[in-house]
Amino acid sequence: MCGIVGYIGRRKAYPILIKGLHRLEYRGYDSAGVALINEQGKLNVYKANGKVSQLEAYAADKDTGGTIGIAHTRWATHGEPNAVNAHPHYSESERLAIIHNGIIENYAVLKAGLTKEGYTFKSDTDTEVLVQLIEYTQVNRHVDLKTAVQLALQQVIGAYAIAVLDKEHPDTLIAARKGSPLVVGIGNEEYFLASDATPIVEYTDQVIYIEDEEVVCIQIKNEKLKIKNSSSPIEITTINNVTKTPEIKRLELSLSQLEKGGYPHFMLKEIFEQPRTLTDSMRGRVNVRQDNIALSGFIDNKDRFLNAKRIIITACGTSWHAGLIAMYAIEEFAQIPVEVEYSSEFRYRKPVINKDDVVIAISQSGETADTLAAIQLAKEKGAFIFSICNVVGASIPRVSDSGCYTHVGPEIGVASTKAFTAQVMALTMLALCIGKEKGTISQVQYLSVVQELGQIPAKIERVLGQDKLISDFAKIFSYAQNFIYLGRGYNFPVALEGALKLKEISYIHAEGYPAAEMKHGPIALISQEMPVVVVAPHCGTYEKIVSNIQEIKARKGRVIAVVTEGDELVSKIADYCIEVPETVECLTPLLTVIPLQLLAYHIAVIKGCDVDQPRNLAKSVTVE
Ligand code: AGP
Repeated sequence: MCGIVGYIGRRKAYPILIKGLHRLEYRGYDSAGVALINEQGKLNVYKANGKVSQLEAYAADKDTGGTIGIAHTRWATHGEPNAVNAHPHYSESERLAIIHNGIIENYAVLKAGLTKEGYTFKSDTDTEVLVQLIEYTQVNRHVDLKTAVQLALQQVIGAYAIAVLDKEHPDTLIAARKGSPLVVGIGNEEYFLASDATPIVEYTDQVIYIEDEEVVCIQIKNEKLKIKNSSSPIEITTINNVTKTPEIKRLELSLSQLEKGGYPHFMLKEIFEQPRTLTDSMRGRVNVRQDNIALSGFIDNKDRFLNAKRIIITACGTSWHAGLIAMYAIEEFAQIPVEVEYSSEFRYRKPVINKDDVVIAISQSGETADTLAAIQLAKEKGAFIFSICNVVGASIPRVSDSGCYTHVGPEIGVASTKAFTAQVMALTMLALCIGKEKGTISQVQYLSVVQELGQIPAKIERVLGQDKLISDFAKIFSYAQNFIYLGRGYNFPVALEGALKLKEISYIHAEGYPAAEMKHGPIALISQEMPVVVVAPHCGTYEKIVSNIQEIKARKGRVIAVVTEGDELVSKIADYCIEVPETVECLTPLLTVIPLQLLAYHIAVIKGCDVDQPRNLAKSVTVE
């Protein structure tokens, strides 16, 4: 988590940095800061507790001059969120300033060593230790800044994306990464650094994705911006000083994708985008006229899937829920045993991984630290890694053997919505591809699902048409302290996802359960005060879930049911119903999750919660 941004060029850096921080605020928003070297060579650092707007207010009457600077928006790991712990951090002499995204795991040992050398620390952060170490190295080993950064990073255990300023070298910006993302944007005699491309896109579409253990040194003459020594102003080396050749890539991102487009919140915009995003996810892959699905990541590696004795799916949060749905689809269509693992548990529990296993990693951001570590572990054991990611060029797709991008555009609301449906779509397509190739799915079933995939965007449109009804239900239930969500089969993970959406943005306690499990404990919670959301579309276990609803009603629970259009049984016993169009069972989650996203959204708005940036959370969890 945390967002970092940097600028060096001919324009005033401050407005560019602040705008960049706003774009990155989804990564963390408990405090923010900026460092600038002004025309007189003074290194100014301004920091504020709270969001970027509070930093702007604080810096309003300060000297924000300078054409080089770095800035940071924080999600606290070491040290509580306050202005002292906010980044940038000065070095002891205040010659250097640093920003950092990640965790320096051995900071305590490094700090003890530096303390013995007389260094003092103002903050509780691991980051301040790193800037002190760089300065200590610079001073005691008589080396330039780049070398000091390289030598300091050789001593660091942990994850980092950093950027460093040195007031003695106002023409130089240094950055490095390991385990946390870092992108460099190349403009016209100006350069940008950021955790992702969103702060860069309006200035340039030329980017370099920095790799692990690489150090980038950008050096330009401030006065005339002439390239120093007629060599490239941008130099990339490893932390061991091996020179690397920068690979410039073209950014595929548009500015309009980063705007709210008239919606009050990014989350609502992203919910309403789903008919289009799912169309984009299928484009070039699903050919309804020819009744065919073509996933290049699968086609190129068919044998790995066909020979797999087992598929392990690893992910976190909402992506893990998509993985659970995939378990149903892959086992049904491809008849390969599937295990779905929380990445954070999997990576630490000495899992049995075989060379013929296929590991599917699911991640919207492609940067989730636990998922990245889980696939690295599986890779070491020889498993084949296939990833489903949204952010193009992120770390997870880059370390995977193959994969499939979801192509839904930037998801900015912290609560994942359009990324989830696209993950389910991609995984269902993959299950169908494997099943067809293995001959474990009948032609009739394959064709019916392929045909139905093409109908999904229009059917989601119909569900979105009930937004007003769902917001009315939200008004009725926004008082509740607790919710239960129930579902069965393909819709059990939807119940989990609905509960997660509600708790993360409205701070209402919510639990998701397989509906039949209710009578093994949670039924004790049922009372008039307890809203129960039941996901009950027409499917194989429909009658069973009707009985589960009866059990809730017998105990005076209040039921909000998501049912198939024209439903006759549940609609008679549930208190409130939201209808979704009929579809094949494996695709029902793509429809049933929509009302749950909207319900959570409207309840959070009614409660006055910060929907796009809920407390304590961050969009991209790059710490374990
Ligand atoms: C979902 O609403 C959450 N914000 C969160 O659970 C998220 O899905 C999780 O952190 C995984 O992120 P990823 O998909 O980027 O790996």
